[in-house]
Amino acid sequence: MLDQLGQLEKEALAALETVEDTEGMNAWNRRYLGKKGALPPLLRSVRELPKEERPAFGQAANEVKTHLETALEARAEALRQQEIQRDLEREALDVTLPGRPIGPGHLHITTKTLRQIYAIFAEMGFQVYESPDVETDEMNFELLNMPPHHPARDMWDTFWISDELLLRTHTSPGQIRVMREYCPEPIRVILPGKCYRYEQITARSEHQFYQVEGLAVGHGITMADLVSTLTEFARRFYGPERQVRIRGSYFPFTEPSIEVDMDCILCAGQGCRVCRYSGWLEIAGAGMVHPVVLANGGYDPDEWSGFAFGPGVERPAMLKYGIDDIRLFYSNDLRFLRQF
Ligand code: PHE
Repeated sequence: MLDQLGQLEKEALAALETVEDTEGMNAWNRRYLGKKGALPPLLRSVRELPKEERPAFGQAANEVKTHLETALEARAEALRQQEIQRDLEREALDVTLPGRPIGPGHLHITTKTLRQIYAIFAEMGFQVYESPDVETDEMNFELLNMPPHHPARDMWDTFWISDELLLRTHTSPGQIRVMREYCPEPIRVILPGKCYRYEQITARSEHQFYQVEGLAVGHGITMADLVSTLTEFARRFYGPERQVRIRGSYFPFTEPSIEVDMDCILCAGQGCRVCRYSGWLEIAGAGMVHPVVLANGGYDPDEWSGFAFGPGVERPAMLKYGIDDIRLFYSNDLRFLRQF
């Protein structure tokens, strides 16, 4: 019987050598160590031996059992190491490969459009003047001839920061700042910058957008200067064939006030979502600077006159490049941005 035991051990160990995976190990375990395996019946057969042989056999049988269990564990560990080794070889890192290139970026379409506008007005003698995004109620409304509770304030949906502070709803407060800084010199400036309105976001209006305010103050400046300046701008920006339309309008800080429209390039005047099916797109509010505003800036309205205008920036860019949704300017979608 001791022979049988030795035989079993040899056979089991040899079989274990050929086991290659967990399934094989489970099968091996069932076959030799499990309840219905080969070893337990041998262990039980100790009872059939003469009494004096039992201790030696029992000890030998237990040693075989322990030996097989240890061998199984060792085999499992060896297989695990093999597996790790295979993984490492398969996923080997080549640290000498070049990285993914980070290409140079380029200017945003809004910045490019602003620069085109600066260039056109620079040729007409307008300097760039910057004024703050966070404004006082006084600058944004009061000094522009809109006292508290003036109904014209409803034209601008406003982001209030406190009772006195707000995000500017237009670039017009810059008019007051420039006049106060340069009075009594004549003025010819553009004031570019972001404006904010608490508005429903749609294909044609965002709650943040750019404007380029224009302001000229001097002696004998008339409406003819305003209309010709804007017409010249439109022709240089969009092309000499563009149609411009002037309508009477109302702003508290200009008198008289006008609205400048351009024919819609997207639909060639047929009517589309962007031009609200009118064929025309409003590109700027404008007018002659109101005497009260001139006086608030320090200029005597009996001696001085001036004009002001306030086109947006995204809408002209939409017209020029055929973009039909203003939200694209702020959505950071590279597929859009890379086109310009
Ligand atoms: N500030 C006006 C607006 O945002 C536009 C404007 C500017 C009108 C200058 C007249 C003169 O609607």
